[in-house]
Amino acid sequence: MTETRVAIIGGTGVYEPAFSSEPRREKVITPYGDTVVWAGRGPGKIPVFFLPRHGPEHRLPPHRINYRANIWALKWLQVKRVIATGAVGSLQPHLPPGSFVVVDQFIDFTRNRPSTFYDRPGDPVVHTDFTEPYCPDIRKALLRAAADRGVAAHDGATYLCTEGPRYETPAEIRIFQGWGADLVGMTGIPEVVLAREAGICFGLVAVVTNFAAGLGCEPLSHAEVSALMAEKTPALRELILLAVSYLGEMGERRSCRCQAAG
Ligand code: HPA
Repeated sequence: MTETRVAIIGGTGVYEPAFSSEPRREKVITPYGDTVVWAGRGPGKIPVFFLPRHGPEHRLPPHRINYRANIWALKWLQVKRVIATGAVGSLQPHLPPGSFVVVDQFIDFTRNRPSTFYDRPGDPVVHTDFTEPYCPDIRKALLRAAADRGVAAHDGATYLCTEGPRYETPAEIRIFQGWGADLVGMTGIPEVVLAREAGICFGLVAVVTNFAAGLGCEPLSHAEVSALMAEKTPALRELILLAVSYLGEMGERRSCRCQAAG
């Protein structure tokens, strides 16, 4: 069995070290710009990469993240599977702040982000399948890890991605509820789309940090989001590490169709 290469894309509050032993900081130069990853060995000694989505010092707001450079770098590093984290607002009473959610659908409400690798003159016209938007193998690994760790994780939710960086209005949230969205965030798209184009399996574990605008009593703040993430990160890290070890056991074997799409 060949060993697999897994990456963790850390959102707000989720930073290296501690996803791998002796992580080395590396700059990867891509056709879209540079990006930074930490490379090390994770559970079972498999190669594990950590990529801080907002940059090493959390300087990049959601609409300025270089999603193409990030995914291109992981492809170049021969990463086959990605577990991403994301702080989200909840649109549903049964998903209160503190919940972990293994997302299974998305709605793309971004408007101004390059969201494909196929946009240069001469590139083929490519329409990627998103019937199953998130990798079922990674979803299974995350849910199994949560069960084994005794951490409650909801199986399935629809994530709606806004352009940000502002939070939503209550009127927008009511519309999104009508569309069937359960969670709202600013960074899940186009990451998942580019990963699929690159043939990389991708799973998203969302952490609910607040009820969405108009559903809670308080105005929204980044401080509130960061505080909740700080509280939840130790359990999230454990869950992810166990999921990585399950993915490591699977090796290169993939029963999903993510690869074929890329
Ligand atoms: N809206 C958008 N993004 C978010 C939220 C929210 O309520 N909470 C955390 N990220």
